[in-house]
Amino acid sequence: MQRRQLSDNITQYTIGKPLDTGAIILRSDQSADDCDRIPHFSADSDDDNNLRLSKALTDDEAIYGLGEMLGGLNKRGRKYRCYNNDDPNHTPEKQNLYGSHPFMIFDADETFGLFIDYPGEIVIDAGFDRRDTCTIELTKDVHNEVNTNIYIIEGKNKSEIIHNFLTLVGSPFMPPKWAFGYQQSRWSYPTADAVRDICRKFREYDIPCDAVYLDLDYMDDYKVFTTSHERFGDFAAFAKELLADGFHLVPIIDPGVKVEDGYAVYEEGKANNYFCKEYDYEDKKSSGDDFIAAVWPGRTAMPDFMNAQVRQWWADLYKQFCEIGVNSFWNDMNEPALFFTKRGLEDLYTTYDEVRSRTNPGLDFFDLKDKATGLSNNREDYKRFCHDCDGQTVCHDDVHNLYGFNMVRASADGLKRHSHGNRYFLLSRSSYIGSHRYGAVWTGDNQSWWEHIIVHIKMIQSMNMCGFFFVGPDIPGFGCDADAELLVRWLQVGIFTPFLRNHAALFTRSQEPWAFDDEITGIARNAIRFRYAMMPYIYSEYHNCVKFAKPFITPLSFAFSDHRCKSIEDQFMFGHSVMAAPVHSQNARGRSVTLPDCKWLAWRATDYTSREMEVFAPGTYFFDCRLDQFLLFIKEDSLFVMTSPGQNTQTRTDELTVIGLVTHSAEFTCYDDDGTTYQYEHGKYCTLRMKVTAEGSDYSVTCKYNAHDGYKNRIKRINFEIYNGKGELVRKSIKMSGDTPEAPVRR
Ligand code: GLC
Repeated sequence: MQRRQLSDNITQYTIGKPLDTGAIILRSDQSADDCDRIPHFSADSDDDNNLRLSKALTDDEAIYGLGEMLGGLNKRGRKYRCYNNDDPNHTPEKQNLYGSHPFMIFDADETFGLFIDYPGEIVIDAGFDRRDTCTIELTKDVHNEVNTNIYIIEGKNKSEIIHNFLTLVGSPFMPPKWAFGYQQSRWSYPTADAVRDICRKFREYDIPCDAVYLDLDYMDDYKVFTTSHERFGDFAAFAKELLADGFHLVPIIDPGVKVEDGYAVYEEGKANNYFCKEYDYEDKKSSGDDFIAAVWPGRTAMPDFMNAQVRQWWADLYKQFCEIGVNSFWNDMNEPALFFTKRGLEDLYTTYDEVRSRTNPGLDFFDLKDKATGLSNNREDYKRFCHDCDGQTVCHDDVHNLYGFNMVRASADGLKRHSHGNRYFLLSRSSYIGSHRYGAVWTGDNQSWWEHIIVHIKMIQSMNMCGFFFVGPDIPGFGCDADAELLVRWLQVGIFTPFLRNHAALFTRSQEPWAFDDEITGIARNAIRFRYAMMPYIYSEYHNCVKFAKPFITPLSFAFSDHRCKSIEDQFMFGHSVMAAPVHSQNARGRSVTLPDCKWLAWRATDYTSREMEVFAPGTYFFDCRLDQFLLFIKEDSLFVMTSPGQNTQTRTDELTVIGLVTHSAEFTCYDDDGTTYQYEHGKYCTLRMKVTAEGSDYSVTCKYNAHDGYKNRIKRINFEIYNGKGELVRKSIKMSGDTPEAPVRR
């Protein structure tokens, strides 16, 4: 084993000759030295030659991280599997979902981070078999070896460890501003008129919205990079019309390419050997034939995204869409999902024949049933194809967790290159550590179950730790029928999630904001408008988090010292000034909230103009909360900034409202840029630094505007609503003349 110090607090341990996964961006020219152990762990090989790391756990040791996993925020007491999986049934016992994020924090007297950069299967037993032991097993590859990089990340506390981890793997991509708006989806809005109708309804009901998604049916026969003329007519004209009306279109692109003679994408891929090849696991050889599986289009070839040339080809396929102004996409089914293969079917047919003819007494109905239900995403199939990793043949199973990552990498590259300097938006279902640098992630096929709201709340916190700040679930659940109350409560969580999209499965009940009754439409409208009112706060905070590599959503126990926070997983910090504490149980009209460490300004909100505010000392309280209300809490000596919402994120107002509870002093810096290009990277942005200082029973307020590189101030007036420790409100209004504020008005 070799050890290399990458920075003061990150050490890399290399076992064998690992493949470069692309997960990390921090390189070092420090030479490596030999070493025989990884700190904190004992390492050995099990009987199968899998690598096993073990660590004793102290009684109150917590384990955090692992990104997209079910279970608690504290991962202790369960088993997890890093092996990307298309599983639409997110029931509590499931060990893996669509992404693999093997970064963990062990939090005891000694707190440290661990990142295992291994693209094959990893099984993590976080105190399940034995309560006092964590074991991490890396499954050997086809050559009977485990080659991997392992990183130990130090820091003086959990937040610093995450920050250091993010310097290793990079900050997430910066989406365009519109992506922070509300997004509407359904499988499917199957025609241009259906989409137009949805857009019209948003305007009619006066509900802000920035994007509408196109699921499978916009394509011609599920052929990727085509559009259906029959259902969408002139697609370019349609996209233009929608954009002009303020709606971004987000079409779906799956990896599977339909096997069909004459279909250009297939023909090109086949002619250039761009598809994954069949692989003989026993002989460790490729047959040279394209590997064919079945996905939505039927027989499908799988692009070999592990190959740089293939990524380049795929990237350029987006050009035709970018040219017509469509540079936002979602990449789905990229675990990759395989409904079945010829091998799997043959096996099923043989079993069927044997059971039917009773020629094999060892087989019965249950074998037949298992064969049928095990057809999809079968592990055997993942062992039966391979990649050409720039000259080296690699069995897919050994790098399984990198497939979605490399699809996203290719897509992002194409979208960036062909967007004429505009920011793209990309959403993916599958991911690996590092794909956050290229796109956002949604958490796949959840259900319209109350149980899944709390799953969502915990998962977005864990994903933020792994670099996936721009993340969210299908609201109010993808599968099953949602009820009105679920829509409301889930939206009231979703407005505090960076990615806010309503998406539903085929054949489920409509769940658009107006799908229930007038009262519910009104409540949904208020929640979504509140989200748009928060846009200056969200955009500023998000930009800072990306710039300074710190999560946007943070668990309470990472931000506060109060020991109770360790047990609180359903409240979280949304940026650095606001804590969300959503009601997530059916029929609940209130909930307990713990307010740690300092005073808090509690806001029981119905809409962005409502002001039911009260100041609380640290403690645990029960807050009533009707269905039309939601709870947010502004931290003492910090500021929260709002504006008036419009019909989408393009609406610009010239007034800001700043709300805070100030006992000493508080600051906030509003950040803004054009929201669409990368010009901000070259200094074209503006900042507005606001400072409120308590002076007896009054406040002094200063605002400093910085328009970098000619970027102009749009804000004409700033209204301050500042509460003191006793909950008394002082209002102040500042007029900005040009780029300088007029003298603050004294009370
Ligand atoms: C998958 C996706 C889902 C999509 C469906 C059809 O189930 O997770 O979001 O709607 O495929 O494309």
